[in-house]
Amino acid sequence: MNNKLIQKAINMCDKAYAPFSNYHVGAALELHSGKIIGGCNVESSSYGLTCCAERVALFCAIAEGHNNFKSMAIATKNDGMPCGACRQVIWELCGNIPIYICNMKGLVKTVYMNDLLPDAFDKKKLK
Ligand code: THU
Repeated sequence: MNNKLIQKAINMCDKAYAPFSNYHVGAALELHSGKIIGGCNVESSSYGLTCCAERVALFCAIAEGHNNFKSMAIATKNDGMPCGACRQVIWELCGNIPIYICNMKGLVKTVYMNDLLPDAFDKKKLK
C-alpha cells in the first residue's frame, strides 16, 4: 500500500466534472516504475457518455504509452466500489492487481481484481 497513491486518488476527486450526480470519484493508477497517473469522472449532459474515474486514469496511461500497472486507488466520499464496466476494463489492462478502496480520510480496504470479477471473460477466449 502506497500513501502517495491514496492521496492522489483523494486529490483527484476535486478534479471531477460531475454536475449531474455531484458524486466525485478520484482514481490513481500506480505503474511498476513508481509513476502515478490520476483520473476523475467526467459526466455529460447526454448521461450515457459519462466516463468513470478508473477508465479515465487507465486510458490516460495507455495514451501516454504505459502498459505495466501495479495497483489502483479509488476514492469517493463513501467507500464506493468500481462499477461493472470499470472492473472489466481494469481486468483487461491490469489483470489481478490490488485495488485500494478509499474515502476522504484514507484507505478503507484492499480488494483484488480476481475477487471483483470472478471467472472473467477476457482475451484468452479470443485465441
Ligand atoms: N463513477 C465512477 O467514476 N466510477 C465508478 O466506478 C462508479 C461511478 C461515476 C460515474 C458518474 O459520474 C458518478 O460516479 C455517478 O454514477
